[in-house]
Amino acid sequence: MGKPRVLSGVQPTGNLHLGNYLGAIRNWVDGQANFENFFCVVDLHAITVPHDPATLAQDTRAIAALYLACGIDLNHATIFVQSHVSAHSELAWLLNCITPLNWLERMIQFKEKAVKQGENVSVGLLDYPVLMAADILLYDADRVPVGEDQKQHLELTRDIALRVNHQYGREDAPVLKVPEPAIQKAGARVMSLTDGTKKMSKSDPSPLSRISLLDPPDEIVKKIKKCKTDPVRGLAFDNPDRPECNNLLGLYQILSGQTKEAVAAECAPMGWGQFKPLLTDTVVAALEPIQTKYHEVVNETGYLDGILRQGRETAEAVADATLLRVKDALGFSRPL
Ligand code: TYM
Repeated sequence: MGKPRVLSGVQPTGNLHLGNYLGAIRNWVDGQANFENFFCVVDLHAITVPHDPATLAQDTRAIAALYLACGIDLNHATIFVQSHVSAHSELAWLLNCITPLNWLERMIQFKEKAVKQGENVSVGLLDYPVLMAADILLYDADRVPVGEDQKQHLELTRDIALRVNHQYGREDAPVLKVPEPAIQKAGARVMSLTDGTKKMSKSDPSPLSRISLLDPPDEIVKKIKKCKTDPVRGLAFDNPDRPECNNLLGLYQILSGQTKEAVAAECAPMGWGQFKPLLTDTVVAALEPIQTKYHEVVNETGYLDGILRQGRETAEAVADATLLRVKDALGFSRPL
């Protein structure tokens, strides 16, 4: 028996922020040696909202470099670009024809993003969870480590796999593997710095709302200095009336590697004036090694290209075999 498979991905829309890191990538890195990992940069997802063709390729490379900078180890993981493996688009089409439209209309992210887009909503935005299902199912993934906001999309992926198996498989020979979500409690939902009730997001118009992994120290100082707090003295977790306080303490806890109890005790007597510099130093120290490694990766000519070329080959071999299995189950002829 091989190791269980993991698949996950991030969209190349701007740089990664602390939410992407703490909700997803940190969990990919932890325990990666126990799994056979596939991590893709999901560039086909990035065009479901209006995008800039001038920056897409560069952003895609930056995300792949950040995977390495955050500690993804090529001895245990394959890193690749979604659009380099055409099976993703092809399986998405096959799954489109099996997925009921009303399953997609129920997706919370679609409804939220569609409201923001106004009249300019593409078919791709509605269809995006089917492409995500194809990403996962192509690799027979056992586990999909993501943040809380992707939970509904993973439930849909499971429903699609079960439907395919029910319609086209046999009990003893399912067509697709049904994956399990892997959502860690700590960091699963990092909130905006300007509004503790909204999640930290790449699409928030205010850059002050998020800390990007490549923000230089002075930028981090500025963002934490300006971040929203409250007038209450003494800091505590889990007070529903103090969402910002809970979020900032949570960030400090994860990035300083302490237990919740230790942080609660340390910060209980503090005011914001004392806590903010502590948080700032912790964030700067946590991001410094990532930034150093990122610059090494992007400055070494040809290094990233080689990794992505190899990644495409490894990913394609797995993905093409699954695609063929699905096409056979659906009754397609094979090319002669
Ligand atoms: P994306 O690019 O929006 O986010 C990438 C990962 O970061 C997590 N995340 C967060 N976690 C905690 N707090 C936050 N504020 C926060 N914001 C984002 C997301 O949950 C995600 O794990 N549809 C996916 C990308 C995707 C994918 C896949 C993921 C496409 N195909 C297959 C897993 C498997 C997305 O848009 O993530």
